[in-house]
Amino acid sequence: MATKTTKKTAAKPAAKKTVKPVAAAPAEKKKILFVASESTPFIATGGLAEVIGSLSKALAATGRFDVRVVIPLFSDIKKEYRDQFNYLGNLYVHLAWRNQYCGIFEYVKDGVTFYFIDNEFYFKRPGCYGYYDDGERFAFFSRSVLEIMPFLNFYPDVMHCHDWQAALAAIYLKTNYCFREEYQYIRALFTIHNIEYQGQYSLDLLGDLFDIYGSYQYLVEYNNCINLMKGAIECCERFSTVSPRYAQEIKDAYYAHGLDPIIRKNEFKLTGILNGIDDVGYSCEHDTHLYANFTPDDFSNKAVCKKKLQELLNLPEKPDTPIISMVSRLVSHKGLDLVTAVIEDLLQDDVQIVILGTGDSHFEGYFRDLANRYPQKLSANIVFNGDLSRKIYSGSDIFLMPSKSEPCGLSQMIACRYGTVPIVRETGGLYDSIKPLQNGYTFSNYNAHDMLYVIREACAAYKNKEEWSKLMYRAATTDFSWSHSAKDYEALYLDMLKN
Ligand code: GLC
Repeated sequence: MATKTTKKTAAKPAAKKTVKPVAAAPAEKKKILFVASESTPFIATGGLAEVIGSLSKALAATGRFDVRVVIPLFSDIKKEYRDQFNYLGNLYVHLAWRNQYCGIFEYVKDGVTFYFIDNEFYFKRPGCYGYYDDGERFAFFSRSVLEIMPFLNFYPDVMHCHDWQAALAAIYLKTNYCFREEYQYIRALFTIHNIEYQGQYSLDLLGDLFDIYGSYQYLVEYNNCINLMKGAIECCERFSTVSPRYAQEIKDAYYAHGLDPIIRKNEFKLTGILNGIDDVGYSCEHDTHLYANFTPDDFSNKAVCKKKLQELLNLPEKPDTPIISMVSRLVSHKGLDLVTAVIEDLLQDDVQIVILGTGDSHFEGYFRDLANRYPQKLSANIVFNGDLSRKIYSGSDIFLMPSKSEPCGLSQMIACRYGTVPIVRETGGLYDSIKPLQNGYTFSNYNAHDMLYVIREACAAYKNKEEWSKLMYRAATTDFSWSHSAKDYEALYLDMLKN
């Protein structure tokens, strides 16, 4: 009798399966689109541009984000870059009764894709701001940002809008585009770099210029005006400021330029994240603008920078006299009221003072006059000059930044990178970045004599070379890179994307 063989035994031995280790599928990169009016290295009028340029790069470097940035194609964008931009195409953007050409250029740098919105009627003008039709220009820009998404086939997970010029992108998303399928998952983050500039316009312009339906007037209306910053705060998923301290301060009328009730109302979605700086670009070791390079371990060449700076500015070459510098816009909220109140007292001491910057004409005139009266002690450079600013940061001993308010401030961090000890008022990012005797000097009240007292304290400490070089070392080695803050932004983005 034939023995029954079970299927099992008769079956061919199964080929031995080699289990290949399966590499974990790379997590899909989150898509971030920065919307802003300026970015280094293309065009910069202030700190905003530095943050856009350096934060986008830091986020891209994590490998976890597809970071893209969109800015207007201003005619002042440096030619060396503009010549390399890639023309992608054009479309027409509708805004109320307007129908405007929108060209799109692209350039990839340090892993970040930059888009430039071209419209010569709006952007072929010198400078970035200050035109009668700025509202219309940035409405067109913001609308274009949403309109180019289908063209690029790029719908970001987070659209990160910066300052009032990009506020309408968040407003249009909420009042119009989010009802379309492709846009429905885009989350808007709005960052306030300076609450002073809010984008305020007459209510008459709501439909005719901004193309916002009357039923949404309540979102943008504030104190009988259209207030674009207020609108963005109401419309965005989350909003942030550029330091934790400033996030607290703007709940207070003293700092909020009228928006404090709106900030308090929306407090539940507010975060403060301290800016970093491009610590490779600002490095006493590698900066080619300096007369001589040095390191936090060996400051000896800083004396060369100081000597050459004195020579350049026609100040007596005194190695042991502290140079106190200010690189600042010459406007009142930078603390110039305090400076002008006591500077002539200070000039009686053994100090040299160097000023660099432009601003309100009465401050410009004031410092020019002072330089004429104290040519041996004060140098007033009423210009904006990047090369000279680095020579001043590196060649001076003390950096003064007594701002009345300061969302973050980058100059105090830059000064530290060159071993120049900052004296700051405890406000906003100055409070968050400079700690008394750790890496600088601080004072709390907005009071000229409190400031003068601390300056004199620092000048006295400067005479103790050993202790002073320890302070310089601590200032120069404070970590102001984006490494911490980029993580905080990452956490914020991921939190926004949770729901
Ligand atoms: C604005 C603020 C400044 C901040 C910069 C970048 O210029 O006034 O404090 O550092 O934006 O965020």
